[in-house]
Amino acid sequence: MQHIQSDSIINIKARSILDSRGFPTVEVDVTLQDGSIGRASVPSGASTGEHEAYEMRDNNAKKWLGKGVEEAVNNINVDIYDILGGLSASEQLKIDAILKNLDGTKNKSRLGANALLAVSLAVSKAAAKSKNMEYCRYVGGVQAHVLPVPMMNIINGGAHADNKLDFQEFMIVPHKANCFQEALRMGTEIYHTLKANLISHNLSVNVGDEGGFAPDISNIKKTLDFIVQAIKDAGYLPNDDVMIALDVAASEFYKDGCYYLSGEQKTLTSNQLISYYQELCSAYPIFSIEDGMAEDDWQGWQSLTQALGEKIKLVGDDLFVTNIERLKQGIIQKAANAILIKPNQIGTLSETLQTVNLAQRSGFNTIMSHRSGETEDTIIADLSVALNTGFIKTGAPCRSERNAKYNELIRLEERLAENASFFVCKNT
Ligand code: PGA
Ligand code: ZN
Repeated sequence: MQHIQSDSIINIKARSILDSRGFPTVEVDVTLQDGSIGRASVPSGASTGEHEAYEMRDNNAKKWLGKGVEEAVNNINVDIYDILGGLSASEQLKIDAILKNLDGTKNKSRLGANALLAVSLAVSKAAAKSKNMEYCRYVGGVQAHVLPVPMMNIINGGAHADNKLDFQEFMIVPHKANCFQEALRMGTEIYHTLKANLISHNLSVNVGDEGGFAPDISNIKKTLDFIVQAIKDAGYLPNDDVMIALDVAASEFYKDGCYYLSGEQKTLTSNQLISYYQELCSAYPIFSIEDGMAEDDWQGWQSLTQALGEKIKLVGDDLFVTNIERLKQGIIQKAANAILIKPNQIGTLSETLQTVNLAQRSGFNTIMSHRSGETEDTIIADLSVALNTGFIKTGAPCRSERNAKYNELIRLEERLAENASFFVCKNT
């Protein structure tokens, strides 16, 4: 029998809610003895990495087109509640270890990473409330103070849009700002300027899953030209004020050793693709390339890092899937020099923190990230400050599930007041 304390977990209640794409996802409320409630929900990817933790779906074609999460919800309300009930919510490491052991599989496929993560995050939120602490300070301690540079995805392609662009994300990085709010303003002005420019070229300004425009363009250089022009028209200097980041999501068009860029009508080997990136980097103010090579093309990643690692950030998303073992492999093999952090790729808060910690100790840049299917939960905004990641990727300044994170960072910068500082990003 557990000794009941003020922060003991007395109830865990999960439910299925809708994500931004209109598909079910898991939300959970964790209630403590003193009445504190932590609520968390989990996002969902479209271009998911092969090595991500398992997202449990019911696969019942008669309901939600197979995408229901009733089983994951049930796992929380029964098995997980049974084992966590009575434990102190402040014991995050212990709770996450219990969750991992209860699942017992390598990729969290018995209970579902969506079930585990929702509980893990909700427990941490409830604990912060119970201690009456700012969430980022509860997780990050007194040193949590760095507001991230937003990497704003203003043109969507790949799996996130209905156009022919091979690359998934074209982001702007308004690095020359004095504070987060200013960076957000710069990025938003460029977004609206781009919109006007696209309209004047008779191109669609409907948006994709992450709020960026999804014009009917298939040419990558033409897309980059539009962005450079929008930066200039908004009154900023490309490179000096604002740079461009790409998420190629190359695993999506890799097959049997070749990269098939159908929009560009090119089939390239790893080395040819690297030459293409070098060409883009000399012609455009490129800050970073994410998933430039496929998730298991380690040889390609090493060559890419040799070729461009001194100049730009090479970000592993599908490559690392927030998994400390894969990150270790990348560090040893000198593959990539930065990592995207998505808690739902790994499935618990503690494991996310451990991966960020190793990355930072190893000189890798860290980027906290949303998923293309999101909810109104703003925890990644808080985590970016908690862990001083320096960067956040949370879409265009459009669609409320994206703006919820930006708005939370505005409030957080205000609350931290003189303790806040904006990440100074030297390129590499
Ligand atoms: P996803 O895309 O959430 O669809 O995986 C985001 C990304 O690749 O960074
Ligand atoms: Zn990515």
